[in-house]
Amino acid sequence: MLITCWYLYISARSIIRQTFNMASILQKLITPLFSGTPEPPRNKVTVVGVGQVGMACAVSILLRELADELALVDVMEDKLKGEMMDLQHGSLFLKTPKIVAGKDYSVTANSRIVVVTAGVRQQEGESRLNLVQRNVNIFKHIVPQIVKHSPDCIIIVVSNPVDVLTYVTWKLSGLPKHRVIGSGTNLDSARFRYLMADKLGIHASSFNGWILGEHGDTSVPVWSGTNVAGVNLQTLNPDIGTDDDQENWKETHKQVVDSAYEVIKLKGYTNWAIGLSVADLTESLIRNMNRIHPVSTMVKGMYGIEDEVYLSLPCILNSGGVASVVNMTLTDDEIGQLKESADTLWGIQKDLTDV
Ligand SMILES: NC(=O)c1ccc[n+]([C@@H]2O[C@H](COP(=O)([O-])OP(=O)(O)OC[C@H]3O[C@@H](n4cnc5c(N)ncnc54)[C@H](O)[C@@H]3O)[C@@H](O)[C@H]2O)c1
Repeated sequence: MLITCWYLYISARSIIRQTFNMASILQKLITPLFSGTPEPPRNKVTVVGVGQVGMACAVSILLRELADELALVDVMEDKLKGEMMDLQHGSLFLKTPKIVAGKDYSVTANSRIVVVTAGVRQQEGESRLNLVQRNVNIFKHIVPQIVKHSPDCIIIVVSNPVDVLTYVTWKLSGLPKHRVIGSGTNLDSARFRYLMADKLGIHASSFNGWILGEHGDTSVPVWSGTNVAGVNLQTLNPDIGTDDDQENWKETHKQVVDSAYEVIKLKGYTNWAIGLSVADLTESLIRNMNRIHPVSTMVKGMYGIEDEVYLSLPCILNSGGVASVVNMTLTDDEIGQLKESADTLWGIQKDLTDV
């Protein structure tokens, strides 16, 4: 009886609404002028992997107002949804009107930039090569999905070992090399500039110096090009960066190489500096800036390197990706170190399977 009454009430209400065309608040409030399909986003950025690094990248990109849509992807669904909701709740303070997330890569469709931070960490006793192979297996799932939904995107690889995984991404994606970039030594150079500038009592942006090569142990500090306001430091101290240097500036590069290990020992991971540096790269790409960054690019044929390896050189970044590479004037010693870096990377890459 009760159910019948309820059913009659609902039916009657529906008939009355239809008869008198009772509009909802939305219908009363807004008069649509256009009923077609909305335009796709112009500056959509996707971040794959919502761990410590992925979220630092996402927040840095949001705060720099670079994206009109942000998509997040991860395999951990609860964490993914939680991160999405948390960011959405900050919408009042952001200028990115749409934040979406999903395990399915359809949420990433039409991305202009895709930042890949997904991956596994090294387990105790696990070799670096084994870690690479495990991350390659993850990338075999991720990369084709990215390209399927955003065939025109630029991919920025952040996961480690970043140079090898950028090469792997290039191979798996089938994208032209200028649209697959590794964050490379952009972070190492930022650390170097901060540490050197701090010693000289100036701001990091006022110390000019480059770390090239592998992001990691074999990175190459270009001491011959270090300068402040155009004053080359090597002219002030010809031994700078060498073992003979009484001032031991070489120690600063060692600090750069050790800094990730030190931060990880102290807080368990690194995230803020890499997040900020990835947002800086994203800005150069999205805003078509032609700024120069040390990022990982395919260097076969440069400085006598014969293998297909990705490592960092100063690259001009614009809306097309890596527009060109600056031919830096390096000393013979620096070129030798760069080749060593390339050999180290090739030593790992050549044993990878299924790439
Ligand atoms: N290039 C650099 O300068 C730099 C700096 C710092 C960290 N990293 C690297 O960034 C990576 C991420 O570090 P983190 O601290 O954020 O690690 P994390 O463990 O906090 O996050 C990794 C995330 O990847 C996700 N993931 C794993 N497999 C996936 C898959 N198949 N698809 C989608 N998501 C997947 C995990 O669920 C996790 O959320 C590591 O490889 C780390 O070494 C690089």
